[in-house]
Amino acid sequence: MSESEGAVSAELSELTGARESGAPHAPNARDAVRALRPSQIREVANAGFGVPDVLPFWFGESDRVTPPFIRDAASRALADGATFYTHNLGVASLREALARYVTALHGDTSAAHVAVTSAGVNALMLAAQLVVGAGDRVVAVTPLWPNLVEIPKILGASVETVSLGYGENGWTLDLDRLLAALTPSTRMLMINSPNNPTGWTMTRDQQRTVLEHCRRHGIWIVADEVYERLYYRGNGKVAPSFLDLASRDERVIAVNSFSKAWLMTGWRLGWIVAPERLMDDLGKLVEYNTSCAPSFVQQAGIVAVEEGERFTQSLVADLHASRDHLVKALQTIDGVDVRAPDGAMYLFFSLPGASRSLELCKSLVRDAGLGLAPGSAFGEEGEGFVRWCYACDPARLDKGVERLRTFLSTRV
Ligand SMILES: Cc1ncc(COP(=O)(O)O)c(C=O)c1O
Repeated sequence: MSESEGAVSAELSELTGARESGAPHAPNARDAVRALRPSQIREVANAGFGVPDVLPFWFGESDRVTPPFIRDAASRALADGATFYTHNLGVASLREALARYVTALHGDTSAAHVAVTSAGVNALMLAAQLVVGAGDRVVAVTPLWPNLVEIPKILGASVETVSLGYGENGWTLDLDRLLAALTPSTRMLMINSPNNPTGWTMTRDQQRTVLEHCRRHGIWIVADEVYERLYYRGNGKVAPSFLDLASRDERVIAVNSFSKAWLMTGWRLGWIVAPERLMDDLGKLVEYNTSCAPSFVQQAGIVAVEEGERFTQSLVADLHASRDHLVKALQTIDGVDVRAPDGAMYLFFSLPGASRSLELCKSLVRDAGLGLAPGSAFGEEGEGFVRWCYACDPARLDKGVERLRTFLSTRV
């Protein structure tokens, strides 16, 4: 190959993205993207295609639609012409409503510390884009919803995991192990509490210790608190939050969502609470990701935050009852080891056959019409378990439990 041919070929492989993968002219995505884990929950759902009457407990959402007062608010906003771009950080009235909401739950927060996002997953991506880049070291507590682990990898960061342990008290954190992993060279801690999939919820004392440690080493905390209202311990209306302890101008970014507390998964609306001095840069990132959350959806968000408290409290009471109902029912099945966690809307439990959880879940959906998520979908630390989302009517849960009982009795 002549020198000029070589230059053309190098240019072409750069254009086609083939340079990193080594295959000349192959139209590949970047290696970091190709290395992302595909969703094992999807893999199980695909195995269920064509199976009649599957009971789907695999996804993290309720079987109920968004309440009418929020849907009506969106219809009104559309009828009134709320169809234009908004400010990158969200309409002022929603930022102010969120600031009042966060203040009531966690102490003084101004609209200048709040940004509206296109749901929690976009908030996580924006938070990561704000503070991590190629080569940075990130720590995450697992088992964990995969997005928190995969997002930093898209940005070229490496992620070290610290696993929760499972024992008599359910899922627990070895705080010393987490602190040891949070070395001075760590850029960011990604922590989700209440946790998906385990329901584990960090205590206030643990948060205090972690916050002090991260302050000492200059480590950012990205706190995924999308399940903070789905918390069943004591009489608290909300789980312990890093926002209760941190000032609004230190290295803490809290991520939240309308999906869980107001049943708005399909609307794609969320928010971030972060230091005010990040906001101009965050606005730029929003511009280059989505530009803004949809205008009429933001209007509905204002109504959810301002008028939704009674709804959220009754939703949480229903979820609490469903959790207890399902735990009790599962405990009647031989070999099932399950405990009631403090938060979120899942049971993450072990049962015979779960040491190969993906295979087990595929068999369950094909042979029993029962849709559960395999523990391995949440990292290798989740192997040996399955996740069951209990955000549905107890009669449906009972039907699922009977299918599981029959399935296991024919396997043993
Ligand atoms: C831990 C966790 N964080 C964030 C999200 C994001 O939710 P959404 O993008 O619907 O706001 C989810 C959704 O299931 C989740 O489980």
